[in-house]
Amino acid sequence: MNDSGSPINLVHRYFEQQSELFGEGFFSGKALVKPFLIRDDSEYKVNRRDITVNNSETLDNLYETIKDCTKCALGETRNMFVFGVGNPTADIMFIGEAPGRDEDLKGEPFVGRAGKLLDKMLESIGLNRDIVYIGNILKCRPPQNRDPLPTERDLCEPFLIKQIELIKPKLIVALGRVAAHTLLRTDDTLKSLRESTHNYHGIDFKVTYHPAALLRNQKLKYPAWEDLKDIRDNYL
Ligand code: URA
Repeated sequence: MNDSGSPINLVHRYFEQQSELFGEGFFSGKALVKPFLIRDDSEYKVNRRDITVNNSETLDNLYETIKDCTKCALGETRNMFVFGVGNPTADIMFIGEAPGRDEDLKGEPFVGRAGKLLDKMLESIGLNRDIVYIGNILKCRPPQNRDPLPTERDLCEPFLIKQIELIKPKLIVALGRVAAHTLLRTDDTLKSLRESTHNYHGIDFKVTYHPAALLRNQKLKYPAWEDLKDIRDNYL
């Protein structure tokens, strides 16, 4: 019998994830003060799937309309157009910067090293790719993973706005500087942007670190975990 869903295994898996995410010894700190809540998503998922069918047709239509875009030069250099992935009626949307090499080859956001970490971050608060929606500011890879140019952002942003309109999330989470600055039209520091919940056309909007930044700088993992707990406690 498969007992991977038993409470003991879930607790075990939780601790495994936390050490993968935040390193050994992380829980000697204050993170355990508030016990983790194990969510039962089974009914939630079934309900969401029912709604998904109609709405996904609309997102599919949008995909068909824009998938061959050549409005900017990235349309000439990309391998694949990276539209977005997840639940078309998700309550939470995570938005990154732009596809990298792995995403450009696969046509799906966050599938490389940073993506693997994002999956673990989601899992640590009971989420996964089927429950949330994941997208990027740009749908095509900038060469050598350089920062998106202002014109590229301007030309691509309307596609993302349309996706947000169709998905109607309750919360948008910007992963990193580019997503936060593009959507909020600000140059404020990431540190200060993390400190409050913003309003994006009536939708709650939070900012956290990009998973690639967490891979580069271990010290950011604790504040990132604080951000995740905040999302878990207020939106799940
Ligand atoms: N980084 C991003 O911002 N988005 C991806 O899809 C992959 C890496």
